[in-house]
Amino acid sequence: MTAPAEALMDVRGLTKYFPTGSSFRLGGERQFIHAVDDVSFTLCRGKILALVGESGSGKSTIARVLARLHPATAGEAIFHERNALTLRGHDLLSYRGQVQMVFQDPFGSLNPVKSIGHHLERPIRIRRQTGGRDETRNKIYELLRTVGLTPPEEVANKLPHELSGGQRQRVALARALAVNPEIILADEPISMLDVSIRMGILNLLGQLRDEHGVSYLYITHDLASARYLADDTLVLYAGQIMEAAPSEDLMSEPLHPYTRLLLASVPDPRKSLEKRRVEVRGEIPTIVNPKPGCRFAGRCPKVTDVCRNQSPGLLEPRPGHHVRCHLYDPALATNPCAG
Ligand SMILES: Nc1ncnc2c1ncn2[C@@H]1O[C@H](COP(=O)(O)OP(=O)(O)OP(=O)(O)O)[C@@H](O)[C@H]1O
Ligand SMILES: [Mg+2]
Repeated sequence: MTAPAEALMDVRGLTKYFPTGSSFRLGGERQFIHAVDDVSFTLCRGKILALVGESGSGKSTIARVLARLHPATAGEAIFHERNALTLRGHDLLSYRGQVQMVFQDPFGSLNPVKSIGHHLERPIRIRRQTGGRDETRNKIYELLRTVGLTPPEEVANKLPHELSGGQRQRVALARALAVNPEIILADEPISMLDVSIRMGILNLLGQLRDEHGVSYLYITHDLASARYLADDTLVLYAGQIMEAAPSEDLMSEPLHPYTRLLLASVPDPRKSLEKRRVEVRGEIPTIVNPKPGCRFAGRCPKVTDVCRNQSPGLLEPRPGHHVRCHLYDPALATNPCAG
């Protein structure tokens, strides 16, 4: 029997509202975009948790709030027994070393006129991890080898534009690793890369988890990569978790109609384009001061009146498999979603 996973970060009720601008009020009520609404999950040590959802579902906002780039509206993220969302001063600095973010665009996150070695040297020096020049240089080479960029002596002298997109993303990962983080928040780290090199980065992420015990919040549009890489998957829609389960359960036996739509829209050469277009119709609404009702009701093929009027809670119809859908509420005499 495998040991139970150790909780590393416990996110509870995470909420982020963005004001729509003071000039835009309805009936005197201030308008807020509910980008993230009462989201809870646990990131376990040495595990990968995927956050999947369409554009605008709130994935990046969650990562940015956890990276302390945006203040939270409400909620907490318990990390080493303290709420990471309220840390200040030296505690915040040390948190930022323990929780690193890797962005979608590896080129945009590197300074085009500075060498790769420079990008890796800075975090090492800021964290005062090494003493002399030689030690710093060796640490840089070791990081480059860890992410598969060899020979490190050559790569360290290159400028970002002299590397391919996949190599640049490896540099971004090396830079995150330079401070020995416990968690990496990876926001669509492969979506701007050629399909041919995505697999290499995914394997590298898995390898870093296995060999360095790094935990990830892996953000993606791509369910196939979540299935391949992540231990658990959360499906986000309009700022709310719609389904959460171990990745294999979620992909093989999805419960929520939205997850089913997402899975049905994964390109399958056996299906005609016409059929796929029907399956993915509609898009995520921007949620401003929401009214009661399921946020997915407008697109749901199984919608009923109760969905339009009552907000569903997160239910657990199977152990460890959560879903926000009235179809699974035994208190409402709706038929369990079979087909
Ligand atoms: N700084 C901001 N100010 C106002 N609204 C914002 C801001 N950042 C995000 N939003 C809004 O919050 C919602 C969620 O955005 P977010 O970027 O988190 O989505 P996402 O799931 O990461 O989308 P994508 O897949 O396109 O990256 C969207 O409606 C977006 O317009
Ligand atoms: Mg995003």
